[in-house]
Amino acid sequence: MNPIRVSLLCASLLACVACATTQGQGAATPTAAGSRPTELADWPALRSGIARDPAIEARVAEILASMTLAQKVGQMTQAEIKSITPDEVREYYIGSVLNGGGSWPDKSKHTSVADWLSLSDRYHDASMATNAKIPVPVIWGTDAMHGHSNIYGATLFPHNVGLGAAHDVALIEQIAAATARGVRATGIQWVFAPAVAVVKDTRWGRSYESFSSDAALVRDYSVAYVRGAQDRFREDGNVVATAKHFLGDGATENGKDQGLARITRAEMLNEHAQGYYGAIEAGVQVVMASYNSWTDADTGEEHGKMHGARDLLTGALKDKMGFDGFVVGDWNGHGQLPGCTNASCAPAINAGVDMIMVPDDWKAFIANTIRQVEAGEIPQARIDDAVTRILRVKLRSGLFGSRPSANRFAGDVEALQHRDLARRAVRESLVLLKNEGGVLPLRRDQRVLVVGKGADSVPLQAGGWSLTWQGTDTTNADFPHADTILSGVREAVGEANVVFSADGSAAAQGGFDLVLAVVGETPYAEYNGDIAVADTVTHSRQYPEDLAVLQRVASAGKPVVTVFLSGRPRYTNDLMNLSQVFVAAWLPGSEGKGVADVLFAKRGNGVAHEFRGALGFPWPAVACPNAQTAPLFAVGHGLRHGSDARLGILPVDTTAACAEASVLPVFKMADIPPFTLHVAAGDASRAVGADLNRSFEFPTANPALRVQTVQVNTQQDAKQVTWLAPGRFYAANPARNNLIAMARADAAVQFDVVVHQRPKAPVLLSMGCGTGCGADVDLAGTLSAYSVGSKHTVKVPLACFADRGLNLGGVEVPFSISASAPFSAAFTDIKVVAGAARHADAVACRAAPATP
Ligand code: BGC
Ligand code: BGC
Repeated sequence: MNPIRVSLLCASLLACVACATTQGQGAATPTAAGSRPTELADWPALRSGIARDPAIEARVAEILASMTLAQKVGQMTQAEIKSITPDEVREYYIGSVLNGGGSWPDKSKHTSVADWLSLSDRYHDASMATNAKIPVPVIWGTDAMHGHSNIYGATLFPHNVGLGAAHDVALIEQIAAATARGVRATGIQWVFAPAVAVVKDTRWGRSYESFSSDAALVRDYSVAYVRGAQDRFREDGNVVATAKHFLGDGATENGKDQGLARITRAEMLNEHAQGYYGAIEAGVQVVMASYNSWTDADTGEEHGKMHGARDLLTGALKDKMGFDGFVVGDWNGHGQLPGCTNASCAPAINAGVDMIMVPDDWKAFIANTIRQVEAGEIPQARIDDAVTRILRVKLRSGLFGSRPSANRFAGDVEALQHRDLARRAVRESLVLLKNEGGVLPLRRDQRVLVVGKGADSVPLQAGGWSLTWQGTDTTNADFPHADTILSGVREAVGEANVVFSADGSAAAQGGFDLVLAVVGETPYAEYNGDIAVADTVTHSRQYPEDLAVLQRVASAGKPVVTVFLSGRPRYTNDLMNLSQVFVAAWLPGSEGKGVADVLFAKRGNGVAHEFRGALGFPWPAVACPNAQTAPLFAVGHGLRHGSDARLGILPVDTTAACAEASVLPVFKMADIPPFTLHVAAGDASRAVGADLNRSFEFPTANPALRVQTVQVNTQQDAKQVTWLAPGRFYAANPARNNLIAMARADAAVQFDVVVHQRPKAPVLLSMGCGTGCGADVDLAGTLSAYSVGSKHTVKVPLACFADRGLNLGGVEVPFSISASAPFSAAFTDIKVVAGAARHADAVACRAAPATP
């Protein structure tokens, strides 16, 4: 990093310790341990790297004064390109459009750079053709997670988890600048990056978007990224950057996506907010609100979901830290606030969200917001403040008077090609974790057997947010400017010296000196990558094929070099035991040749490229994460070529499910959040509610169900439901639960029941995964066999529902009883319990295995 810039940054009080770290940093030196900024007692007052410009402020005031309410609300609205036409941008004075992950103009993943640019021009021209007195150009935002990663043919840099391991601040600045030029080539002016989450539990499916669990490193990178991307808008290749997701996204319990952070204020101030301090001081113009919520672990104070957290968005970020750019909401994040829908949410605006990301329901959202301002539910001053901020950023970033195609990089396909830089980033990100027997560096005169599902797969190297949102539904052919790891090996030793056998079956034929195995996680994004509480972090439990391939090659008696592709550390002792060399390669992106660059010796021997990477996250030593166990390798660990660090044979923890986290409670006396009990008849439904003393019938006219509070285990702990006509009694969580890991841990839906009147018709226990999605099991036989008045515990394996087509990844209704008269029973202690399917008394409802 340029020393002049560093001292500029250090001019403000709080950055100094972090800066000192940055300054003293050789490219491969990890941030010195213990170099923490002084403990903060309150949100710091920061000085933005982009100072107020009186001329811009005057212009903002002038434009604002010329605007109608509809124009202002339009400016505060961000719609998705699939749901809005240029004409509508004009008609509704839309402030911004975005393309979500896996969304492309013309809905084609192969859309050309020219087509992206042309759509951007059309949106821009439409925004300049409104009947506003002073037209305001629309701004287009995109994720650009690791390079301009939604674009066909763009270079994909390693995901942040790998860049963090590189511990190279200067490299991040270059990557951000390179990515920005590619973004401008497609006519886009704004990136939703950097993610500055400080991830504490890597069961979170977004861990790979995080640089490190070390707040000081995240802070340094955050500064570098913002500088690289924005560069104070001095030239054509700059874009507006976004620090996200504010605040505490990396702190959620058990690493649950969009979950609850139950941490102290001190942790918020000193750990999770560090990236924002850095970003703001570097001049970041946008902060994205987070899906998570926060409850103070010391005081119990509930700050709620961040989109509604006025104390943080306005109090901390804007008032205390002095952030004068704008806050954008996350994808329908506002819709998750109590009392809000995707189409209406005064509380988010009042809390301080300035621009609402409302991908589809933007039209209704605009109408509702206008009405709420007119009704006084949103103060006019709040609207003016939001629009002032948006206009300020648009003016600062040079958006006015610059048609997307007028940019120097516009349409330049070369601006999306940064292959050498990305290949260097791959080399720097590799972390050597095991190095036994002097196998490294690998000689080039050897015959190599290459195995593993990751060896010849760009999609696996790239992970999520690569052309598609989840990183799935792509093949190597979708990445025309990319190389697999295999192609790097072929280049290193010559085509003739490589035998490729993905499943390792060729090992039996012999004729090789060395095995190179590339195994790892398959792509995922956001909640789809969460490892649920009941599940272990053991890689081979989720991916048994990887252990199998290593076992298959082990018997050949040749050295095994394992390259592990993953978005986070996993428990891999079994894989390490089968390898002489074990390299964490993270999600390297399009430049797979960077792996062979480091593994193989120079021509004529000697190290070609030294390993420089060091862990940005601890590597687990046990299958079930817990705070008590020391990691196998701590943050900062990473070997070099010459180090012969023997791990010996590591113990293998074969735990199948994590006991302390193996229950998902749904109902017991009262609703257990996020679940609520309901009754339904036909299309109508109502919540059962919390009142223990009130019985009711539903619907009031011609009731189908009668609900009473009764005792099954303890006083008033159960609901007795009496069917008078066909109806349904069920629990729902509209945000859905991912029960894949629970199913893997042999979970069952379990509840206590006392039958009061035996059924004469089917009693369907079902699980639902959204409209038209679900599966059921008839319990009439089971329930009729119980004697009236006695308590039983019913356990129905999740596998039964999966067999019948349930999508376990998105369960909205974990428990539902549909029946008709006559039937009456009391229900309580409804939950999903890992291991319960293994009990002898579990309902036998699995489809009979096909006879071989
Ligand atoms: C979009 C993503 C977005 C996600 C949110 C997807 O359909 O493509 O960009 O992050 O929805 O749930
Ligand atoms: C993600 C954001 C992303 C947005 C737009 C959301 O689902 O949480 O990180 O910027 O989608 O794709």
